[in-house]
Amino acid sequence: MPGTILITGCDRGIGLEAARQFAADGWRVLATYHEPVVPLELQAAAKSYPGLETLRLDVTDYDRMAELARELRGQSIDILLNNAAMFGPIVTMFGGVLLSRWRKAFEVNTIAPYKMVETFLSHICASERKLVAVISSKKGSIADNTGGGAYIYRSTKSAVNQVVRSLSIDLRERGVNVVAIHPGWVRTAMGGTTASMSVEASVRAVKKLLLEIGPGHSGHFLNYDGAEIPW
Ligand SMILES: NC(=O)c1ccc[n+]([C@@H]2O[C@H](COP(=O)([O-])OP(=O)(O)OC[C@H]3O[C@@H](n4cnc5c(N)ncnc54)[C@H](OP(=O)(O)O)[C@@H]3O)[C@@H](O)[C@H]2O)c1
Repeated sequence: MPGTILITGCDRGIGLEAARQFAADGWRVLATYHEPVVPLELQAAAKSYPGLETLRLDVTDYDRMAELARELRGQSIDILLNNAAMFGPIVTMFGGVLLSRWRKAFEVNTIAPYKMVETFLSHICASERKLVAVISSKKGSIADNTGGGAYIYRSTKSAVNQVVRSLSIDLRERGVNVVAIHPGWVRTAMGGTTASMSVEASVRAVKKLLLEIGPGHSGHFLNYDGAEIPW
């Protein structure tokens, strides 16, 4: 078996496809889902691939997160893929921002990825690969922001990029590499039907990139094709 990957938000979209593709390659996949019951497509994937295990986790439920870490005690995690996120309401233009959704999005998009690392650090450190990746977004790049708006999503992704950078420094001595990855504009519930990339193509590219990452990439913000994205 090539290794173990823990992926958050596998109900659908990029998380579900990543779970499928890693499992198809023979990885042990710890696929966490948010819904109260295992979503049908994830159930079907688990039937097809014996290495794919489904585990319930709302990433903002830190008691459940700790419980899961205890359930997995003594088991190594080569890659932690922090994928779960929310966009917030579509209308997040100036004057129309819902503060309660903004606070919620910070919890899901910024604080939870940090908490996942804190909670599963011993599992990651026990592995061969020791990689943490956060699926961020180009919308979190301040240098790339020429369009304005999207206050909720942009700010939570910029903030998680800072989390990635600090983690890469704080965990360097333990041999843990930490990166932020933009998966492209992808046809999922979040990306919409007019997005330029299929979910299969995005995940293929992200998977290839994850397997190439070494200490030289740690603390960087990378496009799905490996190109550096300005913060
Ligand atoms: N699609 C794009 O074009 C694009 C572009 C740049 C970056 N991204 C990033 O790519 C990642 C995946 O996005 P996607 O396009 O696949 O979006 P998606 O289809 O909306 O999937 C997001 C996943 O996150 C889960 N999630 C949300 N809140 C959660 C919580 N509190 N606990 C656990 N899971 C939770 C969702 O489950 P529920 O639906 O049950 O909440 C869903 O499974 C995200 O980080 C997103 O920001 C996407």
